[in-house]
Amino acid sequence: MEIQQGYSRVAKSLHWLIALLIFSEYFIGITLSTTGWKWLHFQVGSVILVLVLCRIIWRITHTYPAMDASLSHINKLMAHAGHHSLYLLMFLLPISGLTLVFTKGVPLDLLGIHFEPLMEPLSYHKRHTIKEVHEYMANGIFYLALLHALAAIGHQFIHKTPILSRMLPKSWSKFIE
Ligand code: HEM
Ligand code: HEM
Repeated sequence: MEIQQGYSRVAKSLHWLIALLIFSEYFIGITLSTTGWKWLHFQVGSVILVLVLCRIIWRITHTYPAMDASLSHINKLMAHAGHHSLYLLMFLLPISGLTLVFTKGVPLDLLGIHFEPLMEPLSYHKRHTIKEVHEYMANGIFYLALLHALAAIGHQFIHKTPILSRMLPKSWSKFIE
């Protein structure tokens, strides 16, 4: 199969849309105690999960560009490890959120679908542990995504490797290359 130079329009759209939603969801999450926007948090988180599943299916069924050939072996390894960890967290984070709400044992509306309680409520102690896992993963994806963004920007502007530009719309990339 032919290896394309840059990411496809679908891959780029999914990448930036999901990134924007995850950062927004993180800020909705850390301000929940003042805003009380739990309902919004649940809906946005469910949209993220649906988009992430589409992204993973798209990733598996389509050809993606190889890592830039000028990157050192260690840089390629780190980028691979970072990307895989981001995929894993993108999937497990909303799943842990859903686990947290379903283990409360109350009816729930998600993306217009009504769910009756699926189980008896778990104890406060067990739900608290799930909440902590959700919180650790949320902080994990936030800081890992920041590091990932810094790496992309550093490669583009310091090492002059066209990493960021191949993830941007074609009409933008000519301004930074
Ligand atoms: C990428 C997606 C998500 C991110 C980045 C995210 C992030 C966060 C953050 C930062 C918190 C605050 C933790 C704390 O400081 O206490 C939180 C809490 C919470 N999240 Fe999420 N979350 C996501 C998806 C979801 C989903 C899909 C659900 C459920 C449908 C969910 C349910 C909850 C619940 C129940 C809490 C605890 C609220 C409370 O009682 O204070 N989250 N989330
Ligand atoms: C929560 C936010 C983000 C997540 C979850 C995320 C996740 C990912 C993942 C999994 C990939 C690998 C794509 C693949 O080959 O399948 C990727 C690539 C990329 N991301 Fe992000 N990203 C986020 C935010 C950002 C930000 C803020 C920037 C830049 C400022 C950025 C720049 C890039 C670039 C340039 C690539 C392509 C790297 C390459 O060609 O080797 N990402 N991202």
